[in-house]
Amino acid sequence: MSRNEPTLNQTIQGHAERMAKASLIELFDRDPSRMSRLSIGAAGLHLDLSKQFLDQAVLSVMLEQFENRNTSARMEDLFTGAIVNTTEGRAVLHTGLRDPQTVRDQAVADDIRASLQKVEAFADAVRLQKRLGVTGRSLTQIVHLGIGGSDLGPRLLYDAARYHRDSRFTLRFAANVDPSDINDALFGLDPETTLVIMVSKSFSTQETKLNANVARAWLETSLGKDKAAEHFVAVTANGQGAREFGIAEDAIFGFGDYVGGRFSLWSAVSLSLAIALGPSFMDRFRQGAKVLDEHFRSVSAKDNLVFRKAICDIWNRSYLGFPTRCVVPYAKALSLLPQYLQQLEMESNGKAVTLNEVPVSQETAATVWGTEGTNAQHAYFQHLHQSSTRTPVDFIGVIADRENNPYSTRVLHANMIAQAEALMLGEASPGDAHRRFTGNRPSSMIWLDALDPEPIGALIALHEHKVFLEAVFWNINAFDQFGVELGKKLAKGTLASLEGAIGAHDASTLSHIERLRAVQTSS
Ligand code: F6P
Repeated sequence: MSRNEPTLNQTIQGHAERMAKASLIELFDRDPSRMSRLSIGAAGLHLDLSKQFLDQAVLSVMLEQFENRNTSARMEDLFTGAIVNTTEGRAVLHTGLRDPQTVRDQAVADDIRASLQKVEAFADAVRLQKRLGVTGRSLTQIVHLGIGGSDLGPRLLYDAARYHRDSRFTLRFAANVDPSDINDALFGLDPETTLVIMVSKSFSTQETKLNANVARAWLETSLGKDKAAEHFVAVTANGQGAREFGIAEDAIFGFGDYVGGRFSLWSAVSLSLAIALGPSFMDRFRQGAKVLDEHFRSVSAKDNLVFRKAICDIWNRSYLGFPTRCVVPYAKALSLLPQYLQQLEMESNGKAVTLNEVPVSQETAATVWGTEGTNAQHAYFQHLHQSSTRTPVDFIGVIADRENNPYSTRVLHANMIAQAEALMLGEASPGDAHRRFTGNRPSSMIWLDALDPEPIGALIALHEHKVFLEAVFWNINAFDQFGVELGKKLAKGTLASLEGAIGAHDASTLSHIERLRAVQTSS
């Protein structure tokens, strides 16, 4: 490199300054093939980044950055089962659950197969009425207890699977320690036909254990203490914890600690779905993700759906400085997707320290928020169109109409496309500043061919791998979550204070404790 040649960082900063001043409409005017250049499809998904502040030059420099980070080798480590979660000394094998053949360690691959086979056999037994309740009735009401990664994925998937449900089964979820959640989940159910599935990777999560105690007591009251156990199973990576909780060995569905909580919906964690939707649904779901995995692993970075999405989100956050990203699924069945992505992206990459234990020099994970469209249009879209803060939006749509209502589906599609167009084009309103739309607001569009298990699996895998690539880029560990620990630890002391053993607290915290204690004492 000659003395006057810019470094890669200077080149990138130059592009960031150029894009910060760019007009999306001008970018289209300058490059008639912009739409096709910035659109890409794979595994039943189609991604359009043409309304983002990106162009070929930006993609090229970002790809160069990935090359400099040894990304291919890091990807191989992920897929083959190397210890990529270095702070906890663990492999991260959600991809191995989709295809155990990719896992180098045969014992681990066999463990994955055995775990999924046990789930399938149990689900089939319940579905075929070979495994009945203690009074001989079918177990058709499933209650799934878990929180965070032991809840959000299965809950999202159950909603998303609305066209693949089996009317014989109902599935309810309870996550929150707020007692209303478990009470709602059990309300109106018949213990004789209810199966409770407690899901906790660590088996140490306070909320799940408390809810499990309530559910177990509810079963015991009707079925008797000994018999109730027949209606209660656990899914965990901590078999010892489950046994100590009084769960019999054959009622424990294990999985390895090589599956991260927020990446665990491919594992035994989705036992409830295997029962309610059938094991073949889960197979198809994993198959869809596997197709995306193969695309990610085998297609060159420049033509790779995952690299494109990662580059866009990193670019918006770390170079253009957008602090948040709004995710709006235009499909009611995907309404939980923003919540799911909040955990996947923010728990994974909401970090400020590199693998070398020094502060990250760039802004990392954006705040993810959003709700389903079109409802969102009647809530916060005012802000998206006219506020002083610009927010990139991910519009997520489904092409096929499965409701047999083509006109309403067309209206839904029209709204989604029009909102993206309006954000970009804006509208001049001479003489009336209040009615003016400045436009030039970026968005991405992701289409799923249909709400079938394969594209849903691919959509989730796309985001998982995007999170991984972001972490490679920022040189952080996407797979630990120490940031959730402090609050949990303090809550133990706060509970003791609420129960009378008042510990040391700041003045504000203390005043809230005293307020609650006053109510407790007088009631
Ligand atoms: O508190 C955060 C967290 O540890 C998540 O990472 C995890 O998905 C969730 O709690 C539930 O954990 P577990 O499955 O161990 O109960």
